[in-house]
Amino acid sequence: MRIPLVAGNWKMNGTRAEARRWAQAAAGALAAAGAGVEVAVFPPYPWLTDVAAALAAAGGGVRLGAQACAPQAAGALTGAVSAAMLKEAGCHYCLCGHSERRTLLGEDDARVAAAVAQALGADLVPVLCVGETLAEREAGRTARVVAAQLAAALDALLAGPPTWVLAYEPVWAIGTGLAATPAQAAEVHAGLRAEVAARDPAVAGAIRILYGGSVKPDNIGGFLRQEDVDGALVGGASLDPAAFAALVQAGARRDGASS
Ligand code: PGA
Repeated sequence: MRIPLVAGNWKMNGTRAEARRWAQAAAGALAAAGAGVEVAVFPPYPWLTDVAAALAAAGGGVRLGAQACAPQAAGALTGAVSAAMLKEAGCHYCLCGHSERRTLLGEDDARVAAAVAQALGADLVPVLCVGETLAEREAGRTARVVAAQLAAALDALLAGPPTWVLAYEPVWAIGTGLAATPAQAAEVHAGLRAEVAARDPAVAGAIRILYGGSVKPDNIGGFLRQEDVDGALVGGASLDPAAFAALVQAGARRDGASS
């Protein structure tokens, strides 16, 4: 059975003090929700070690993740952060190919695949993000676009243990308040799982596929009721401790409902 994962992507937000507070709140939310849900937070790089310490002090359980890692192992790459550094900072997960990095920072499929390989090589668990733009959806190209993004990284992902995670995040839904419908998410998630199953059915059954894009406490239930939606990657709403606690509770209920 796939344990639901509720993950907070803080993006470039928060002071050091806020990061510590949010970490404590996430640990509290997990403690209140019980064992049926996994919780992860993705703080900005400078706060990773503070958040790791705050999570440990709060009893552990919440997993730490990085928002990106370099597609190279080391070297003269000013401003870049390697997967090995992130592992040493306490990370368990690493986002790879978030659409903001694809569109704003020019990360292409080859760089994303290389980052996935670096993450796995450093014993981090990659969370590969895929998603279509509004123009691609309106042109009926959603399935093709996300399949291509997955295909570019799939060899790298399949080289690791089947703990990696996919996140379907339609670009038009991120930070816009305009979420996909549960039916739209379900269709894409089923397609992604089928793409993995074509290579390895056991891995396809094991991996979790998260939905991301304007997830809020009042819409998460609709997504989690879909068979192939195994949790959520949450940006804006994860910065509000009460909202994040409600999202974690919803994740725990999903596990209760499906067991
Ligand atoms: P959002 O962001 O929840 O603010 O739409 C989601 C994400 O980019 O991971």
